[in-house]
Amino acid sequence: MNMDIAVIRGDGIGPEVVNEAMKVLDAVCAKYGHTINYEHILMGGCSIDAYGDPLTDEAVAIAKSKDAVLLGSIGGNTQTSPWYKLPPNKRPEAGLLKIRKELGLFANLRPAYLYPELKDACPLKSEVAERGFDMMMMRELTGGLYFGERYTKEIDGVMTAVDTLTYNENEIRRIAIKGFDIAMKRRKKVTLIDKANVLDSSRLWRKVVEEVSKDYSEVEYDVMLVDNCAMQLVKDPAQFDVVLTENMFGDILSDEASMITGSIGMLSSASLNETKFGLYEPSGGSAPDIAGKNIANPIATILSAAMMLRYTFDLDKEADAIENAVKTVLKEGYRTGDIAKAGEATVKCDEMGTLIAQRV
Ligand code: IPM
Ligand code: MG
Repeated sequence: MNMDIAVIRGDGIGPEVVNEAMKVLDAVCAKYGHTINYEHILMGGCSIDAYGDPLTDEAVAIAKSKDAVLLGSIGGNTQTSPWYKLPPNKRPEAGLLKIRKELGLFANLRPAYLYPELKDACPLKSEVAERGFDMMMMRELTGGLYFGERYTKEIDGVMTAVDTLTYNENEIRRIAIKGFDIAMKRRKKVTLIDKANVLDSSRLWRKVVEEVSKDYSEVEYDVMLVDNCAMQLVKDPAQFDVVLTENMFGDILSDEASMITGSIGMLSSASLNETKFGLYEPSGGSAPDIAGKNIANPIATILSAAMMLRYTFDLDKEADAIENAVKTVLKEGYRTGDIAKAGEATVKCDEMGTLIAQRV
């Protein structure tokens, strides 16, 4: 197969971890006889520095012309970086929101899985960690509070800020269908997370998702309030399979889900539209404090590359090869600093990439 992808190395640890994912992809291509062409584009702080814009229209056009986008991370230290002195729509994160919207990437998948080898890194009680968990956070990504009307102005002499949370039934239905489709390939359970005891938007989610659930009689369907979900994730994460939710709740809960796996450096993600196109990125941020030190964990980005092979290119065997290679290196005891126990030997970012590439 011939794969054309756009690569956004981005800021902070982005370039380091993306290099390792490309190394692993190259190893897969060599082994299975595929070719992959990378075209690099800028987004985030590096694009601000180069063009005064976190994502140019030219970069969007290049991304659109490809099969998929592989992304590292964007942004810097919000307290100290000059990027955060710019107006909000010129900051690094605006580039990320723009690419999500421009490419219509409404479905964000963040798998949270506890590797048996990393149980010690799990911050939960050992009896909870012992049971393990394997869930798919499905976050709506192009609606809700992130994209509603917002402004700050003086109203009757009082400074007032407004953000609006809007969803229409079509936006809800399309992600619900994706959620149930994915549940059919997993343990066949969907939990909708909302705040239907307060929000109109949540009540519409309940109505629409309930309708969609009728088409999937094999899937067990349940609803849960978001505050309860925050609690259940640390109390009994094993109960979840597909966790379906709106943009802002998903942002918060997916960080919580990632943390209980032991490290945000392990969590991959895929952002999909209605076609096979997808943007694949680690769930963690740009970690500016450790950037350039070759100590970041590249596994999240490598697993994101595996998701790309699976969801955009339907190369399940090749995706399995990457996921198994990750499991193997963990079994063999290799650890980057974030997942090592106190006193345990660690490997560098590029060594971890090489070890995984050798095992695909
Ligand atoms: C994420 C990030 C982004 C989001 C930020 C960087 C805008 O936290 O991908 O979860 O809130 O969506
Ligand atoms: Mg987030």
